[in-house]
Amino acid sequence: MIGGGHLLDVDTLSRAETERVLDLAVEMRAARGTPTCRSLLEAETVGLAFYEASTRTRVSFELAAKALGATVVDLHVAGSSVGKGESLIDTLRTLERTGVTALVLRHGAAGAPYLAARCTGMAVVNAGDGMHAHPTQALLDALTLREAIGPLDGRVIAIVGDVAHSRVARSNLHVLVSLGARVRLGGPAAWVSGFEGHPAVEVATTIHDALVGADAVMTLRVQRERSRTGDVRSLREYVERWRLDEARMQLAAANAPILHPGPTNEGVELTGQLANGRRSLIGRQVENGVPVRMAVLALVSGAA
Ligand code: NCD
Repeated sequence: MIGGGHLLDVDTLSRAETERVLDLAVEMRAARGTPTCRSLLEAETVGLAFYEASTRTRVSFELAAKALGATVVDLHVAGSSVGKGESLIDTLRTLERTGVTALVLRHGAAGAPYLAARCTGMAVVNAGDGMHAHPTQALLDALTLREAIGPLDGRVIAIVGDVAHSRVARSNLHVLVSLGARVRLGGPAAWVSGFEGHPAVEVATTIHDALVGADAVMTLRVQRERSRTGDVRSLREYVERWRLDEARMQLAAANAPILHPGPTNEGVELTGQLANGRRSLIGRQVENGVPVRMAVLALVSGAA
């Protein structure tokens, strides 16, 4: 889909397309600040419409758009006509009529970016839709992993925690498998069931089975806002059985890095020591957000 004007999901990207985005992100990182880079999107207006909370995704899309010379408008959803009951489609058509050419949309409803792409003429980038997909997060995670441990072919990447409610996990699954990795999904049974059956995916329901020999470990925020009661008996039980710490990480391959999309709940899915320690790639993930989003915005706008 990328290059065709939208990035709605990563499940349709071929390995070559994914690698093109990652390679372009590396070029963007080097070119950031040059006059050529600052003129790439000077004719475009990028609209940010975040209907769900966000810090790193929204800020990095804004910086990415500005680094390419675009005009940026942020629809402050809470203070916009959305509060007066305006529908999503009316709001998006208004943005389009005011001159927005590329829309970055985060929405609680899975599929909202598809609706935006169908009902408007703007290039649409999905910045997270419900529990469905978070394409740019998975792309920046793949870049971070590739830079830390090299090519992902045959490598075992463990994704641990609240997989069921995580759009990050779903998108990572597609990108990592397409880059040749083997993905191990670990967590309480209620959070990992339904993912068995894919040849490149393993499901693990103990922390030992999830971590043993893994080349890298990604953990996820426990998404209490999306959980139904009864999913996991108690947060305390989750912490006892699944919280990642230095001792548990000894099960993984030597020096296996730890990733987390943020925001972290230190003490719940991982210890503060691990999050801030030598294995942590959490800062690198945030840094890679800007060049990856520069690459995506340039591609959907037809400027790369
Ligand atoms: C994630 C999200 O919003 O999907 N955060 C992010 O974009 N970096 C994950 C989360 O909220 O836990």
